Amino acid sequence: MSGKDNNSYFWEPIKEILMEDKKKEGRYSRIYKQLEALLAKTDDPLARMASICAVLHHKMDHYFWTGFYLYKNDSLVVGPYQGPVACQELEKDKGVCWAALNGGAAVVVRDVHAFPGHISCDSRSKSEITVPVFNQKKEIVAIFDVDSDHLDSFGEVDRIALNGIMDLIHKKF
Ligand code: SME
Repeated sequence: MSGKDNNSYFWEPIKEILMEDKKKEGRYSRIYKQLEALLAKTDDPLARMASICAVLHHKMDHYFWTGFYLYKNDSLVVGPYQGPVACQELEKDKGVCWAALNGGAAVVVRDVHAFPGHISCDSRSKSEITVPVFNQKKEIVAIFDVDSDHLDSFGEVDRIALNGIMDLIHKKF
């Protein structure tokens, strides 16, 4: 194998991932601008959550279930969402949503079957990201959850973009 062949052996898959990430980044940045304009029309957090779900679910190819679990009375109860019917309430301290809540940070799961305690609301879900929503007092009030029906759909680009989008929910415009 020549040096050039050897190089392209690892470079081609990396190039593909970088191109995918670039495409995703561009799409998130356009969505962010669209959401900023849309959410400025009301300061109601539930209305803003519902709009975020609708926009992201229909614009991101890899989103299979998109929604919020609201944190009230020490429970996570389903809020606005798009996609197949979801679990109403999540068993405390179990699964990916509670992991984001208890850790206070986003959790990326490349294969849900490899995540101990993962709560499966739909057997088609294969990978997942969960992102906390903070209010202005820096308390967690909800968890945003996206499922994909493909393995390994979420990474750093999703984590950074979604953290930014979640900050819009309690933003004063
Ligand atoms: N998988 C989540 C439960 C919610 S559904 O994916 C819609 C979890 O483990 O917390």
